[in-house]
Amino acid sequence: MTVYQELAPAIDVNEFRKVVESRRSVRRFTDEEVPQTVIDDCLDMAMLVPNSSNLQPWEFYVVRSPELKAKLAEACLGQNAATTANVLIPIIARTNTWKKNSLRNIEYWPEETMPKIVRTYYSKVAPIHYNQGPLGALGLAKKAAGLIAGLKRAVPRGPYSISEMKAWAVKSTALAAENMMLGFRAHGFDTCPMEGFDERRVRKLLKLPDDAIVTMILGVGRRAPNGIYHRRYRFPREEFVHYL
Ligand SMILES: Cc1cc2nc3c(=O)[nH]c(=O)nc-3n(C[C@H](O)[C@H](O)[C@H](O)COP(=O)(O)O)c2cc1C
Repeated sequence: MTVYQELAPAIDVNEFRKVVESRRSVRRFTDEEVPQTVIDDCLDMAMLVPNSSNLQPWEFYVVRSPELKAKLAEACLGQNAATTANVLIPIIARTNTWKKNSLRNIEYWPEETMPKIVRTYYSKVAPIHYNQGPLGALGLAKKAAGLIAGLKRAVPRGPYSISEMKAWAVKSTALAAENMMLGFRAHGFDTCPMEGFDERRVRKLLKLPDDAIVTMILGVGRRAPNGIYHRRYRFPREEFVHYL
């Protein structure tokens, strides 16, 4: 059996730093159109994020039509970042697509043979691990079993409930949002992530299924000269980092 190898390419860290440091939440955009090729590239880069069990629990809605965009901007509480955006991209997490995607991991496996352990994971383990059952009953049973088994050894501690499934889906989806924002920056465009929106109205406008979670909505466009309201600041790193 040949062992797959992927060499790590050399990277200019200063170019990467430039992308990270120049990404700001931009609240005003110009009228310039964001090319479709740029949007597609950023969506592709978004989908390259690490994600839980490669179950890809996300969906992205690219809202370009002026009528829907205006309604969506209104649902974003009329924020400048939304009303002036050339494109609005609601970033959606899904808690019910894991089952279908689990099997698709077997279908999409890129090598000639799939290791048995991987096949077993996607065909047998994941379907139980992520399944919470009717009204979360299976999740509760798994939690009880985990509490007992966990007395003697390390065990996975969830997701054990529908709300834990929401956190599970949002984690991977938020990473996708960040890749997308960095992607737009690298293309010379800018974004503003927004959680300031009326979720009920957004769900209705996008006709979202019940298990969808509107993680954030990205305003995207070309940065206007007055698009950034103030210099960036963060609290001291030492307060947040614990070396053990
Ligand atoms: C999940 C999330 C929700 C946010 N919601 C809004 C929002 O509704 N409106 C807004 O103007 N900025 C919003 N922001 C942007 C933050 O205010 C901004 O990231 C923060 O102040 C740091 O500034 P910077 O992004 O320029 O570094 C949001 C950011 C995140 C990550």
